Formats: sequence, C-alpha cells, structure tokens
Amino acid sequence: MKIDVGILGATGMVGQRFIQLLEGHKWFNIEELFASERSANKPYKKVAKWYLDSDISEDIKDIDVLPLNRDSIRNTSCDLIFSAIPSDIAREVEALFAREIPVFSNTKTYRMENDVPLIIPEVNPEHLSLVEIQREKRDWNGFIVTNPNCTTIGLVIPLKPIMDNFGLEMVNVTTLQALSGAGYSGVPSMAILDNAIPFISGEEEKVETEPLKILGSLRDGKIEFAKFEIFASCTRVMVRDGHLESVFVNTKNDFTIDELKEILSNFESEPQRLNLPTAPKRPIVVREEDDRPQPLFDRDSGNGMSVVIGRMRKNKERCVRFFCLSHNTIRGAAGASILNAELAYKKNYLK
Ligand SMILES: NC(=O)c1ccc[n+]([C@@H]2O[C@H](COP(=O)([O-])OP(=O)(O)OC[C@H]3O[C@@H](n4cnc5c(N)ncnc54)[C@H](OP(=O)(O)O)[C@@H]3O)[C@@H](O)[C@H]2O)c1
Repeated sequence: MKIDVGILGATGMVGQRFIQLLEGHKWFNIEELFASERSANKPYKKVAKWYLDSDISEDIKDIDVLPLNRDSIRNTSCDLIFSAIPSDIAREVEALFAREIPVFSNTKTYRMENDVPLIIPEVNPEHLSLVEIQREKRDWNGFIVTNPNCTTIGLVIPLKPIMDNFGLEMVNVTTLQALSGAGYSGVPSMAILDNAIPFISGEEEKVETEPLKILGSLRDGKIEFAKFEIFASCTRVMVRDGHLESVFVNTKNDFTIDELKEILSNFESEPQRLNLPTAPKRPIVVREEDDRPQPLFDRDSGNGMSVVIGRMRKNKERCVRFFCLSHNTIRGAAGASILNAELAYKKNYLK
C-alpha cells in the first residue's frame, strides 16, 4: 500500500516539480493538492500556470485544489505532507499538519530551529534522528523535516567529501541563480531582461549559515555547527532553471587536483547504498570541458539530482576553485524533499 501524500503550494514552481517527480512513485501517491484561496475549489489544470515540459498527468488535472485553512487541514486524509508555501504562512500551517503527520518542507521557516533536521541525505542522514526529540518536545505525533535553500544544497554536496578528506577553513561563493528560484511571479520580466541583478533578499544569509548546521555533528541530541567561514554573494540571472556557483575553497590539508577530482567523482553515500528511488547514481559529476557546467546542458544530469562540477583549478596550496551547478527546483527543492521522505521511509520514521 502506498503512502497518501498532500502537496502544499501545489500550483507553484516547486509544487509543479513535486507533481512531476511523484508521478508513478514507488511508495508515495498524490492524494490532495493545496494552494491559496485564489486557486481553491477549482480543478488543478485551470489554476496552475504549468511551466514544465511534460504535460500535467491525467490523474492530477481534474483534482480540485483545496484551500489551506483549519478545516481542510483537520480533515486531510493524507499520511504525509510535502510543503512548498511562502515562509510567512509556513509557521502555523506546517505545525498544524505536524501535530498529526510528517511534513517535509522546502520553506526556510523551521530550518534553523534546534530540534528540526535540515537534511541532505548524502551529507547528514544521521541528523534525521532529531525528529524523535522534536516529537517529544513539541508533543506532536508527526514532525517537520526541512531541506536547505536551493543554493546551499548545490554547494554543500561537494563540500562534504572535501571536508571529510582535507578539512575546511574558508569558502567563498558567488552565485548566478535562475529565475524559477524566485517563484512564478518572483522577478518582473522588465527587471531581468538583458540584465543580471547583484542582490537576492535574504539569500546570502542562508548560504552563510545553513551549511554550518548541515555539516555539523549530532552529539547528545544537539547539533554542533561546523567551524569554518563562508562568504556568499548572490546574483539573479536570466536563466530559467539551474543555479551556477563559482566557489573558492581553502582547506586545512593539501591535495592534488587529480586526487580531488577522484574523491568527488566517486562520492556516494546513504541514498545510493539504500538505493532510494530518487537518489542519483552519482551525486557529483565532474566535467573536464573548459566551458562546463552550463545550466542549459547540465541541469538535468542524474534526472536533475546530480551536482555538476567543472573548471577545477588550484593556484595555491590548500586552495581550489571550481564551478558547480544544480537544478534548483529538483535537487534544490522538490527532489530534495522527496529524497528526505524516502530516507525517512527506509529508516522506519513513517509509521
Ligand atoms: N523555487 C525554488 O527554486 C525554491 C527552492 C527551494 C525552496 N523554495 C521555497 O519553496 C516555497 C515555494 O516556492 P515557489 O518558488 O514554488 O513559489 P511560487 O511559485 O510563488 O508558489 C507559491 C505557492 O504557494 C501558494 N500560496 C501562496 N500564498 C498562499 C497562501 N496564503 N495560502 C496557501 N497557499 C499559498 C501558491 O498558491 P496560488 O497559486 O494559489 O497563489 C503557490 O502554490 C517558498 O518558501 C520558497 O522559498 C523555492
């Protein structure tokens, strides 16, 4: 029997990816779709501004979208929730669901709370056990598990094997982020056409803090944050999907570029060992061409779940520079949440 799931923010950029990625899923069945009052009580096909290449699946098209109010939350028939709603409404809505059922959230609201796991299954699967403390502390039958900001995910996946092998002292990252990362009506066309914008509200703060929690260690039910410095500069560019990041890393111990390439290419972790349905075979793909990765050509690598690295250069001891690219609505959002839920399923947290 499959687990019935609901999607909050089902009409949005991330919500649409959830619908696409969950089609025919082995363990999860889409049961309910939620969005704002604007979309409520209308068939999904009439209210979603569908932006994906594939068609909306037949099973979904005619489902009536539900409003996100106390009645619809209380009456839900779902066993699990995937959330992609604006952060200002997430605090109340996600908590109301989590009283009874697990919530896997893309929203920033709960990410940095002490008892809430912020998970990338390839990086810190052991942090999932925090949900036991969370349930007890908040007296919930369910729980909230979060995935990081879309830019953080693409950065932290390569940082993990670098940290484990050589230690980290300092990371400096400049991002070139896609338009879908701002949501359907996020950036007006007249602001971005023929342009790049060197500011994304709140983004640098997330990229400078979330990695330290994810790469931290869980000791006695608490996460000790990793100790290295991160500096981020975030820009918006005229790309539809796929965040490109220019990264400079200063490690504790020295390495050769060949050694580093081999470590990154061979990196695999819990999702690959557990053979989770959404896990890419290779979490990191290293490209050798001078001009890759590029959003247009590399964002769908590993069905959008691999991080693609290129232009790896070492000009100084213990320093490496590279570009990394990840699909922001797949690896950076819906795919990330689904992989978290698959990990929880395999680890028996979805009873
Ligand atoms: N886009 C990304 O790459 C990305 C990556 C990681 C995390 N996130 C996070 O994921 C969340 C969703 O982002 P998005 O890009 O999908 O945004 P979006 O395209 O603007 O979609 C927002 C969704 O939330 C619904 N919504 C808005 N106000 C609501 C309300 N008051 N009550 C109930 N539903 C409401 C919208 O429904 P209507 O259509 O009815 O208005 C829509 O389904 C945000 O918290 C964002 O920060 C996004």
